[in-house]
Amino acid sequence: MTDLDSFIAGLPKAELHLHIEGSLEPEQMFAFAQRNGVAIPYASVDEVRAAYAFGNLQDFLDIYYAGADVLRTQADFHDLATAYFDRAAADGVVHAEIMFDPQTHTDRGVPFGVVIEGLLSAMAAAEERHGLTSALILSFLRHLSEDAAFETLAAAEPWLDRIAAVGLDSSELGHPPEKFARVFAAAAAKGLKLVAHAGEEGPPDYVWQALDTLKVDRIDHGNRALEDETLVARLARDAMTLTVCPLSNLKLCVVGDLAEHPLDRMLALGLRATINSDDPAYFGGYIGDNYRAVTAGRGLDRAALVTLARNSFTGSFLPDTAVAANLDRLDRYVAAHA
Ligand code: ADE
Ligand code: ZN
Repeated sequence: MTDLDSFIAGLPKAELHLHIEGSLEPEQMFAFAQRNGVAIPYASVDEVRAAYAFGNLQDFLDIYYAGADVLRTQADFHDLATAYFDRAAADGVVHAEIMFDPQTHTDRGVPFGVVIEGLLSAMAAAEERHGLTSALILSFLRHLSEDAAFETLAAAEPWLDRIAAVGLDSSELGHPPEKFARVFAAAAAKGLKLVAHAGEEGPPDYVWQALDTLKVDRIDHGNRALEDETLVARLARDAMTLTVCPLSNLKLCVVGDLAEHPLDRMLALGLRATINSDDPAYFGGYIGDNYRAVTAGRGLDRAALVTLARNSFTGSFLPDTAVAANLDRLDRYVAAHA
């Protein structure tokens, strides 16, 4: 382990872009399939991992939605999230804002309450065991209709005080943010924060729509914003947080090599970029792996790593007092490792 690697391991950080369904490890997929009596189209864990070679986002999504079929009970969602929180805590994550895709489950007959109650009990346990705080982001699937998103928002009504934000994920191309303008406005009216995947595969115009039509508080990914200078200036002016996911970008061919990853260019342009893992079980690593891989690929220094960790707290949906406490903790860590 290099000095920078051990610095990264202990660096207090927040994770802001994590799909809990994307933390389903192959071993867990087999365990859940067995306990729920669900057939899966793989004979071994090695066979599952061999299937994780993706040419683009849709290749991944097809396998990701199929994998989620093993999740059936409240205990499954609890155990899935607990395994994620344990790994995150080991990576120095002190706060995590995790996305879940209710439609992936309700469309298979798994009730909304089963999903969210399993996640909420794991969140409470993670805070007790690790002191790790967390928040939920309800993500709408953009390949489905806006009416379906409205139905999901209605199903969430009894738990709205336990949900921090709504998000927008799944197949980006052909499903622009403006398709969800009304449901995002409805979510904002209920006091929810707003995030959307934009500029992962989609053009800069989708990032503009996320900002101006959806009025998001954060952009998930945002890589392709760099193609539009005016957009970059707008994102910098607004101190808009970008939740960047280096290993995801590599696995989904958004970048050809981490040596070409634009993360440090984003920082140099004044963008509030953060490092996140997206779907760690599918993309070859958790948040610590993402920090280490992009540090090696781009030659990031300590100052850049501290800026990235700082951005993860300032870009979070924590109350100001908790942001300040986490920034203090970060400053103390940095001072102790000067
Ligand atoms: N769902 C899970 N991961 C995703 C990603 N990286 N982009 C869009 N939808 C997703
Ligand atoms: Zn994502």
